[in-house]
Amino acid sequence: MKIFDLKKELNAFTNEQRKKDRSIGLVPTMGALHTGHISLVKKALSENDLVIVSIFVNPTQFDKKDDLDKYPRTFEKDIELLKQVSYQIVVFAPTVDEIYGGDITSESYEFDGLDKVMEGEFRTGHFDGVGTIVELLLRTVAPDKAYFGEKDFQQLQIIRKMSEIKNLPYTIVGCPIEREPNGLAMSSRNERLSKKTREEAGFIYSMLQSAKTKFGTESAIDITDWATSEFEQHPLFDLEYFEIADENTLTPALKIQDNQKYRAFIAVYADGVRLIDNLRLN
Ligand code: PAJ
Repeated sequence: MKIFDLKKELNAFTNEQRKKDRSIGLVPTMGALHTGHISLVKKALSENDLVIVSIFVNPTQFDKKDDLDKYPRTFEKDIELLKQVSYQIVVFAPTVDEIYGGDITSESYEFDGLDKVMEGEFRTGHFDGVGTIVELLLRTVAPDKAYFGEKDFQQLQIIRKMSEIKNLPYTIVGCPIEREPNGLAMSSRNERLSKKTREEAGFIYSMLQSAKTKFGTESAIDITDWATSEFEQHPLFDLEYFEIADENTLTPALKIQDNQKYRAFIAVYADGVRLIDNLRLN
């Protein structure tokens, strides 16, 4: 398996591939790979001749230094996992210096408010950091298509917005959420849950499914109030937010319009671990 840590070497390789008319898919990750990441890689393999998986823990999207330091780094294991999937995968794993040089800062984007709600509300600068690294990776790799999970739906919409305002010519592909058998969305953070909590965490997905059943007959406010009180009664989970929002604007669904798509979004603490999930409602 080819592993590059320098942009120059990666570029020499991708230029060669492009001369041979080979299409390139990009899957940006921060490593600690699991089945959720692999589903993106498989989708990219099915649509491209060659897939580049980037593994880079991006410092500018962490608002707390402690979180950045604690982020799991499992490079050898990640490579083994990718080798099991396909040798057509190329890994790009640059250092922070290689990506940012001496200036580890992010650009300020105008995301039309998409960055001000939910995940953006309490994490100042988080989405500017995501935008910065994704723009850098896209421009460096210049893929035909780049793949992102709906697990981080707000991030996906922000990346689409960034591509639009920057006129980037790469197709952004959203991929469905991979779940554990009980419905819990796959995440490297699930490893930090106790066995009991992990088993019970199917509750989060079941709340999203119930919201979907109620949507259409009950108002978004009533569903949100109901979900909030269900979480209040649950001994294991602390709800940070439950929101029903328009998929495109991410604004609360106060008045439902027939031609719009809506999603329910959840952030919850369990065993001190923050979990997020979402589900399309219509
Ligand atoms: P990371 O958390 O490593 O996730 C990489 C990609 O995997 C993201 O697009 C994420 O949405 C997707 N993903 C994670 N869990 C998933 C699941 N259960 N089902 C489907 N897709 C899943 O997200 C990031 O890294 C970073 O912010 C990044 C975009 C790489 C920029 O640094």
